[in-house]
Amino acid sequence: MRIDKLLSNLKYGSRKDVERMIKQKRVFVNGILCTSGKEKVDPRVDEIMLDQEIIFYEESILLMMNKPAGYVSANHDDLHPTVFDFVKEPYNRFDLNIAGRLDIDTEGLLLLTNDGQLLHEIIHPKKNVYKEYYVEVSKSFDFACLLKPMEILDGNGAPYRPMRPIIKKIDERCFYLKIKEGKFHQIKRMVEHCGSEVVYLKRTKVGHLSLDEKMKPGELMEVDIEQIKS
Ligand code: URA
Repeated sequence: MRIDKLLSNLKYGSRKDVERMIKQKRVFVNGILCTSGKEKVDPRVDEIMLDQEIIFYEESILLMMNKPAGYVSANHDDLHPTVFDFVKEPYNRFDLNIAGRLDIDTEGLLLLTNDGQLLHEIIHPKKNVYKEYYVEVSKSFDFACLLKPMEILDGNGAPYRPMRPIIKKIDERCFYLKIKEGKFHQIKRMVEHCGSEVVYLKRTKVGHLSLDEKMKPGELMEVDIEQIKS
């Protein structure tokens, strides 16, 4: 890959900006001064330095966040802060997508990746990746209702039938629920259908990947992609 393309992909500036940085003798490849934006580099093996700092690069990146309530799962929002407010250097240089959004008031495990294939593998219901949630409801109800076929509305107001979830009861008002889909407000609407209301919701697992409970709200951690693929 050309070095000007790499550095502009990593949001260090336009190719013209990068060319200027090179002319200013600010860019080194494997310790040797770079003299042209056309120079070919392999960022997986070459050490690229800009202003004496090594450039962080990974082809595929997967980040786990402990999402706090009050943050929107979107790149921009006019009213509320977004989960991307927590994404700092060097991760803010990657084009990250959210692998399964959470509602503004939902907490817990949120995955961000720049890998389109991985994103698809995580969020597509047919890929059999269960997402586990810890749920607290306002009043007790018959949890068996959640296992029966039901029709609820998706984000576009269209009716659909959620797949049968897996439930692990904790007590009358708390349980774990596992689903493969992630439709808009899905758990809230399933619980509402059964006559109660979700008062607290936290995603605890995606596939075999559990939220690291040591992570503070808003904290990010890089995940080994091979770990989640397995
Ligand atoms: N179901 C919901 O209702 N909300 C979420 O944030 C996730 C699943």
